[in-house]
Amino acid sequence: MIVLRPRPQPWILMRFFRFNFIFLLIILSSTTLTTLLGVDVKSCYIKDPFKHEANQKLLNSILDREFSYLSDTLPADQAIHLSESISKITKALVKGGFSADAYEVPEIDQNSITSFNCFTLWEGNKKVSGAIPLTFFVYVWPSEGLATCASKSLNASIIHSHPIPCAFAVLKGTLVQKKYELVTSSSLGNSIRFIDETIFCEGEGDIDALRNQFIHKLCNKSSSVCLSLHAYGLPSSDEVMACFRDTESTCSYERSIVN
Ligand SMILES: [Fe+2]
Repeated sequence: MIVLRPRPQPWILMRFFRFNFIFLLIILSSTTLTTLLGVDVKSCYIKDPFKHEANQKLLNSILDREFSYLSDTLPADQAIHLSESISKITKALVKGGFSADAYEVPEIDQNSITSFNCFTLWEGNKKVSGAIPLTFFVYVWPSEGLATCASKSLNASIIHSHPIPCAFAVLKGTLVQKKYELVTSSSLGNSIRFIDETIFCEGEGDIDALRNQFIHKLCNKSSSVCLSLHAYGLPSSDEVMACFRDTESTCSYERSIVN
């Protein structure tokens, strides 16, 4: 018996990719190939697992030093302190020999483009003395020229807000942050307006502790790769992913009207 499989409908593909661009790229931990509107999408990947592991150990040692000052502090407050220290932690990683070459932007041809990707560096639930609601990732952002086709730019996140505290700082290169404000919100949808754009260099970043929550988009507009350190306010990458997945409909502003 011949079983006919239905072809994926365009809206299913768009939904998949919209979700991907929020966070799901975390699980695309190698050169996963996906066809998007006729173009092969190749994700940035870990080229050297040993160097990636060394980066994880380096971050662990830096965080252990921070924890030594926080022994009488509650885990939630420790997470806040570390998020607010993300620039200091990033500078310590660079000074300590963080290997940017652990990660690679895949080679492309005329039929393919690259996409940003991210990899877990440290999870709070692995801490022996008690779980900390925080997870660190390294993001690898390809240059604009390698990640742009006629219909998509995969050197950038979507426009989004955060369901949990988030912080980031640049490890290598430059990263552009575009910020937006909510103009209207109704059952018919949201309307947002562009506010400003900031270029972050090595060691510089921003934090959304959910006190003055913002809507933003990150992108690498330069001609070379950018790496950034990100911290999210849950104790494991699985929980962070699940949280972004569950809040996708309320935290994505990609389809909002932007003036
Ligand atoms: Fe973000």
